[in-house]
Amino acid sequence: MLNIDRRTFLAMSAALCASPAWSAQSGGDGLRVRAARNHRLYGTSVDSRNLKADPRFAQAVATEAGILVAESETKRKAMEPAKGQYYFGGTDAILNFAHSNTQLMRGHTMVWHEANPAWLEAELPVSKDERLLTDYIAKVAGRYKGQFQSWDVVNEVIEPKDGHPLGLRTNSIWYEAFGESYIETAFHAAREADPKTPLFYNETNLEGDDAWFEPRRTATLKLIERLLARNVPLQGFGMQSHLKAFRSKYSEAVISKFLDEIAAFGLPILITEFDVADIRGPADPAQRDTAVADLTRMFLDVAFSKKAVLGCITWGLTDKYSWLSLTPAYKWSDGQLSRGLPLDGDFNRKPMWTAMASCFDKSQA
Ligand code: G3I
Repeated sequence: MLNIDRRTFLAMSAALCASPAWSAQSGGDGLRVRAARNHRLYGTSVDSRNLKADPRFAQAVATEAGILVAESETKRKAMEPAKGQYYFGGTDAILNFAHSNTQLMRGHTMVWHEANPAWLEAELPVSKDERLLTDYIAKVAGRYKGQFQSWDVVNEVIEPKDGHPLGLRTNSIWYEAFGESYIETAFHAAREADPKTPLFYNETNLEGDDAWFEPRRTATLKLIERLLARNVPLQGFGMQSHLKAFRSKYSEAVISKFLDEIAAFGLPILITEFDVADIRGPADPAQRDTAVADLTRMFLDVAFSKKAVLGCITWGLTDKYSWLSLTPAYKWSDGQLSRGLPLDGDFNRKPMWTAMASCFDKSQA
């Protein structure tokens, strides 16, 4: 197994470390500079249509982010809407933006149980044709060969509530067609098409203290152990980290232990989808902002005390464009924006931004 440590990863982003061009905008250094000073990455998910249509958003992304990821446009539904007909326009636009702004980009995601095109959902369970998995991976990994900082090969493959003895998600077209083997098939296909880009497994809902989180952590660790024992080319772990300030409990000890357990496999860790839902919080937005910032500080201080943690990507940069405001479980019924991201809906830096900046400043180099 090829292990890539944090130093190697960050050597790839050395250009981001001293970037005066990104200083003194919007009232001082962006998070990308604050992160890079201590050899970590900060970035955000984006949608190319927002980058194109909203110059203030584009400016904020250029100022704050050192790495980008497509929030939807690198998923199969967007990339292969009809069988054999590919659309790369969204991903290419983000990659071009990243190149223009000295930013990295990562790929998300080759294989997921969601965001698949209708034709695939109809065909795969019937045909169980492995080429529907491997041909797609060859196509997209081949097209972006060597251009991403990392690729999420599989996403969200654990779901203990599905009842599988190993905690695997069975309610998935991929599991239904191939059983667990689709995971390693996907990694091998990706490695064949793109020999160098670090290949990640990305997982969600691992961070909390409530009882339902623990089986998720256990199943995730066991899966990684099985994959590495079978020489699957897994080279990094993405911990999504969608936190819920007023719905779940979190503690330093639990987060720290889990990060140590992942790091013990020799895998670098990236916080890939960080945000903090504020639903069920007090009516006063300022009070919610304080709670969101406090949880951010606790979580990132623990994360950045670990050498294995490469950095943090937030799932969106501004509350103006946040999936939290569109999602029934997290959105406010009165139409106000969710406040779970570093910038507010008018691109002002919030207490969460300040918390993140100070965590990057304190971060172990
Ligand atoms: O782009 C189309 C647009 O052309 C169409 O007119 C419109 C009509 O519904 O849909 C648009 O696509 C939407 C897309 O976001 C872009 O806005 C999809 O309907 C919508 O389902 C999609 O939601 C995304 C979701 O993943 C599914 O891909 C969310 O923005 C995105 O935040 C969410 O991200 C996931 C991560 O990938 C994995 N972890 C959890 C995270 C949150 O659910």
